[in-house]
Amino acid sequence: MSQGRPLIFGFNIDPMGHHNGAWRHPGSDPSKLHSIEYEIELAQKAEAAGFEMLFIADSLAFNHGAADETAFVKAFEPFTLFAAVASHTRYPGLVCTVSSTYTEPYNLARYLTSLDHVSHGRAAWNIVTTADPLSPKNFGLEAPVSHGERYAVANDVAEAAFALWDSWENDAVVADQGGGRFFDKKKVAPANYQGRYRSTAGPLNVVPSPQKRPVIVQAGQSPDGRAFAAKYAEVVYMVAQHIDDAREYYQDIKRRIADAGRDPKKVFVIMSVRVLVEPTSEAAEARNRELFDLLPLEKTLANVSKLIGLDLTSAALDDQIPELPEPGSTETFQTQLAMVRNLVARGQIRTLRDLGVLMNGGQGVLSITGAPQTVADEIQRWADAGVTDGFMILPQQTQVDGPNFTDLVVPLLKERRLMAGASPQKMTFRQRLNATAERG
Ligand SMILES: Cc1cc2nc3c(=O)[nH]c(=O)nc-3n(C[C@H](O)[C@H](O)[C@H](O)COP(=O)(O)O)c2cc1C
Repeated sequence: MSQGRPLIFGFNIDPMGHHNGAWRHPGSDPSKLHSIEYEIELAQKAEAAGFEMLFIADSLAFNHGAADETAFVKAFEPFTLFAAVASHTRYPGLVCTVSSTYTEPYNLARYLTSLDHVSHGRAAWNIVTTADPLSPKNFGLEAPVSHGERYAVANDVAEAAFALWDSWENDAVVADQGGGRFFDKKKVAPANYQGRYRSTAGPLNVVPSPQKRPVIVQAGQSPDGRAFAAKYAEVVYMVAQHIDDAREYYQDIKRRIADAGRDPKKVFVIMSVRVLVEPTSEAAEARNRELFDLLPLEKTLANVSKLIGLDLTSAALDDQIPELPEPGSTETFQTQLAMVRNLVARGQIRTLRDLGVLMNGGQGVLSITGAPQTVADEIQRWADAGVTDGFMILPQQTQVDGPNFTDLVVPLLKERRLMAGASPQKMTFRQRLNATAERG
């Protein structure tokens, strides 16, 4: 175990994988993008392997561009997907990504309460502020919302949603058929939340769910993102390419959580990793190259440009990486900007080609490629460093790396007592997290 602390493991149930070229590989069947049966199979396999949570990312724009015919789109938005998955699984938490910038608190609170009912207390909300520049226009906005304002809105949306969830006391429903009283009016109150950006009256028009509030998940590493996580998050996704960066983030966020008057042990800060696994390292390297060849470097760099807010597409691939924007000076993804700055400062990458190769069709999440032993060793190295409370596993090519990870790597992680496996006891996701934290 990492420094004696039990770890938690999440699995991304994206049917294609984290690599943007994965859909083109002969080992992927593109029709699985719209197969709910396949999603359920993936979720059940992850549950059987012992993952404590299932995750799905979401965006609100066709980010890779309607002019680019190699870009693919998904079939399911997260609520519909998790409602289906919930009724075919029993234990894992269901981490549903919902934008705070583009979802009204009243809608959001109802949807998540409903999912918590459907899943018998397993709903979690991955609060994202939706940093891409294309989404605003889909919601009638001419200009993007600034980074700072997105987090200010997120605070409002979270507070408004909490007020709505708290508008019903747990035992407010009496359902007294004889007396004709459905609820006790002393136990239902309006939310009356008035924020600078969002307001809502309430009360909510759905009865309280098992967890009442979903588990809160968050992933921003900017100062605003860290402040937000410290205040609200119960699970924090971390991105790092170097253990020292992870340590800085891990220690800073734990300190901020304590400063906010919360118990740092009860908040799981977990490392995101993308994995490519084959029985031998030669086979893993070969498929890694195949995936790499399916997505031109220029496309990866165009994607990174959007993430960090700097155009990297006009220079030659072997040119040095141009001067990068100062932290906080762009309106896009600060996490990725800081990561690229750190890679350059450490001399880990020098040219645009180096950057494209390192990103390899992804968004800056650490990549682990190899035979099962190698993948388990690398996970163990991060765990032993004491810089993470768990791992979010993002298969590079889900239809191959999903089963390879669960069948070949999970047994090694269990042997090494890194992965405990979710106990089959019936409990809510929050109870499961708290039980794990107490074992630590
Ligand atoms: C594992 C992981 C999953 C994420 N999933 C999403 C997502 O589904 N949708 C989204 O808009 N942003 C997603 N993000 C991006 C974050 O929400 C956030 O915008 C980004 O890390 C930049 O935040 P910052 O500018 O505060 O550092 C994800 C980040 C990570 C690390």
